[in-house]
Amino acid sequence: MVIKMNFDDIKNTADKYLMPTYAHFPAAVEKGKGATLTGCGKKYIDFGSGIGVMSLGAGNEKWLDAVINQLKNIQHTSNLYYNSTVARLAQKLCERTGFSQVFFCNSGAEANECAIKLARKYSFDSYGEGRHNIISLVNSFHGRTLATITATGQEHYHKYFNPFVQGFKYVQAGDIEEFKAACDSTVCAVMLEVIQGEGGVVPTDFEYLREVRRICAENDILLIIDEVQTGVGRTGRFFAYEYAGIVPDLVTIAKGIGNGLPMGACLASEKYGNVLTAGTHGTTFGGNPVACAGALAVLETVDSGFLNSVIEKGEYIKKKLSEIDEVKSVSGLGLMLGIELKTKNAAEAAKLCCENSLLILTAKDKLRMLPPLVISKEEIDEGLAVLKKILTSEVVK
Ligand SMILES: Cc1ncc(COP(=O)(O)O)c(C=O)c1O
Repeated sequence: MVIKMNFDDIKNTADKYLMPTYAHFPAAVEKGKGATLTGCGKKYIDFGSGIGVMSLGAGNEKWLDAVINQLKNIQHTSNLYYNSTVARLAQKLCERTGFSQVFFCNSGAEANECAIKLARKYSFDSYGEGRHNIISLVNSFHGRTLATITATGQEHYHKYFNPFVQGFKYVQAGDIEEFKAACDSTVCAVMLEVIQGEGGVVPTDFEYLREVRRICAENDILLIIDEVQTGVGRTGRFFAYEYAGIVPDLVTIAKGIGNGLPMGACLASEKYGNVLTAGTHGTTFGGNPVACAGALAVLETVDSGFLNSVIEKGEYIKKKLSEIDEVKSVSGLGLMLGIELKTKNAAEAAKLCCENSLLILTAKDKLRMLPPLVISKEEIDEGLAVLKKILTSEVVK
């Protein structure tokens, strides 16, 4: 049975029955192909990919085939039994990235929870009680669970939900002396993003990252890099940390590897691969064979040619944006871009873009672009034309 709902029906029903945790844009998305989405008689160019998720865009044939074939075989096994799709993804992901073991879960926050637990257990096993503190950066974002919201270095998230998880401290990105001083005998790990996404598409200085890497290695402190938003080709490299020439001890991914199905992963280097043992961590849905089948298709697609195309599209967009007078600066790498405006309000501009058939995100007071990595030149041009129109109009203040 197909139930036809118009936009107002959908909005009123959702507003009545969903907890109001999201301020929805005035759009319903029901179908899509690539970076072109439709719903309730409207067409949208997608510059957001469901907040950096649909790396291969909507309706990618290879991904769909993989997911549908897996669904026809079996949709879920639990982690009590082996499954060939799950095993193959674990192997391909480790071989591709150089890590030796992986834990699959369902989201970025869960991937970070796994990394936090692993770091603390490694430290407990090696040094005993008391070496449990985790350093994270001011302005970071690591998720919405109680531990990851605490790891998130933004004061305004640290309200309402007391008591928060103990054992996190925050340092200013780029200040290596502050970092050194924070690395006392109670610290087991540091967690950071290479480009702070929710924090406003703010890159972390590469020299700082190299110093952090060196200090962590010297002090047996785990370096956890959160690539939930930057990973799996988003910045034009498989991992954004490759730009800095470093390798973390643990890396977390989610969003783009799932391409729309819930999928997160914490990858560990050899030394840390066996820290979490049977009974110390788990998840019912994590590593679901359907999500894993889709992730295999993503992995196979994101090859070096694909990564180069991400860089080229990013450069093209940056150039086009620099020609818009209202654009003050553009930050980010590849197809993760933050747009600082001279006079206009980013949230207002994003809403007007939506009303004019362009879905674009915000991050702090910037506009943010996270389009599907497969977005075509025509879709980019169409979306940028809308953006230019909105940014040059008198309406948005
Ligand atoms: C860097 C980073 N880490 C973690 C998360 C949380 O991911 P999820 O919403 O899948 O739990 C996000 C989400 O935006 C993120 O950008």
